[in-house]
Amino acid sequence: MMSVNIQTHEFDAIIVGAGGAGLRAALQLAQSDIKVAVISKVFPTRSHTVAAQGGIAAALGNVADDQWIWHMYDTIKGSDYLGDQDAIEFMCKNAAKAIYELEHFGMPFDRLNDGKIFQRPFGGMTQNYGEKSISRTCAVADRTGHSMLHTLYQKNVEAKTQFFIEWFALDLVRNEEGEVLGILALEMETGEVHFIKSKATLLATGGAGRIFKASTNAFINTGDGLGMSARAGIPLQDMEFWQFHPTAVLNAGVLITEGARGEGGYLINSLGERFMERYAPKSKDLASRDVVSRAVAMEINEGRGVGKNKDAVFLKLDHLGESLIEKKLPGIREIAKTFLNVDPVKDPIPITPTIHYMMGGIPTNIDGQVVSPSLNGTQEIVPGLYAVGECACVSVHGANRLGSNSLLDLVVFGKAAGEKITQDVKQNKIMRPTPKNAFDKTLSRLNRLEKQTDGYTVKEIGENMRYSMQKYCGVFRNDALLKKGIDEINTIAKQSENSFIKDKSKVFNTARIEALELDNLIEVAMATIHSANARTESRGAHCRDDFTERDDTNWLKHTLYLRQNNEVSFKPVNLKPLTVDSFEPKKRVY
Ligand code: FUM
Repeated sequence: MMSVNIQTHEFDAIIVGAGGAGLRAALQLAQSDIKVAVISKVFPTRSHTVAAQGGIAAALGNVADDQWIWHMYDTIKGSDYLGDQDAIEFMCKNAAKAIYELEHFGMPFDRLNDGKIFQRPFGGMTQNYGEKSISRTCAVADRTGHSMLHTLYQKNVEAKTQFFIEWFALDLVRNEEGEVLGILALEMETGEVHFIKSKATLLATGGAGRIFKASTNAFINTGDGLGMSARAGIPLQDMEFWQFHPTAVLNAGVLITEGARGEGGYLINSLGERFMERYAPKSKDLASRDVVSRAVAMEINEGRGVGKNKDAVFLKLDHLGESLIEKKLPGIREIAKTFLNVDPVKDPIPITPTIHYMMGGIPTNIDGQVVSPSLNGTQEIVPGLYAVGECACVSVHGANRLGSNSLLDLVVFGKAAGEKITQDVKQNKIMRPTPKNAFDKTLSRLNRLEKQTDGYTVKEIGENMRYSMQKYCGVFRNDALLKKGIDEINTIAKQSENSFIKDKSKVFNTARIEALELDNLIEVAMATIHSANARTESRGAHCRDDFTERDDTNWLKHTLYLRQNNEVSFKPVNLKPLTVDSFEPKKRVY
């Protein structure tokens, strides 16, 4: 065993991750006089929330008459009826309040001429249960996440939240009763290991889109909270559901916001056809993302793609005019110029569907408490552990998330978890004792990395994993592809047990961090491919060409992947909202 001197720090609550969800929860706690710390592997304002572009949904009704229940209906339909209706009601009902809070925190929303918060149309957001598209997405040009993250960070600085910046969370610390006692973390600059002991541990580590080769996700999106949970024996829910964003820059993976279509942009193929009219006659380019992504993939597969390799379609914006593009989509213009040498004021942008968002995650209830199935089949709360944001599955997005519902999820459930933790910490006066062997597994993982001198490099394993996930678990899936994918990912996971860092004496701790991140990515890849193989139907973003239909009789249920024996079990979807009538599953057309 590596001999290390582990310093202990004590907090009432520790939050892992400083994106929108982590910062919203931290603010709630700091303002309630809870001793809270946030640990983040990057400077907080570099968290991936910063990359969110098009906006945040709430039925404010500033542009047209709107109601939270219409938003709820759209979200349930968007989820292909896999979302839990109690959680969806909670989110949509609390959306307006969340926006006004952000406004009062100082977030500089764009304004309409009458001074009210600007709202734009987004895919799947409709008036009166699907009648027509509605402007529901509040925005700060095409840099909404940037604004939100900076606003929340500043409020946390004001509230005196303590930050551990450039610290990497290694593992959850759990006792034999299953209670979570805090985390072990690595201080990246020094390589020292610390135990952050806490009454409440909140995971807010964001997504894991870097399991795929082409992704709009930042390189930091390595599923750290999911890896930590899986290693601690907690199941991961609905991991087969990965959203492809229809419009990312070809070969660069950089996002071109759906807001571009919200502002009136549209897609065309090599024949100049507005092909979305064929796939979604009513909503066209503003159908939900799974529908638009599949349509783009089909146009490309059937030979109507554009570009040298015919592997893209065009997003046309030039008809919107320079002044609208400059005012509402300045970031998009800059991205298109920088990455493609295309000025959208004059020419269309070649785009392609690209991995963007993980609908699954660590199972939680509305209060952010992590729930884990027990042996007798009931769902039990894991004492001391909470999760929010993209790493969590509450589940409001089900099988397919609607654009602009993710920023909303962060702030609504970030606040709810902050409130619940405040209550729990105030009732729980005692820090639980730490068992003697609680750090052993983590230390031997670190030890192995130090000792290993040959095998596969972290870079080789990472590249193979991304290639295999893209090839065997992409937009269209089937039994043969998934079985082959399982074989490949199993082999890669085995190789990763012997991964090594080249020239250890010459590298910075960043190389160690990449190796530790790879452990987490592999956990997520395993959960994804096994869950995708288990689900023999097509629903939302999970599209199988051997099981083409949604099958509510057998599959209106969540998957739960446990890493022990790669076991997939199930739990029912909650079709019962909190206060209103259920929305019964029906055929989903746009
Ligand atoms: O297209 C976008 O601006 C992305 C928004 C989202 O993923 O919610």
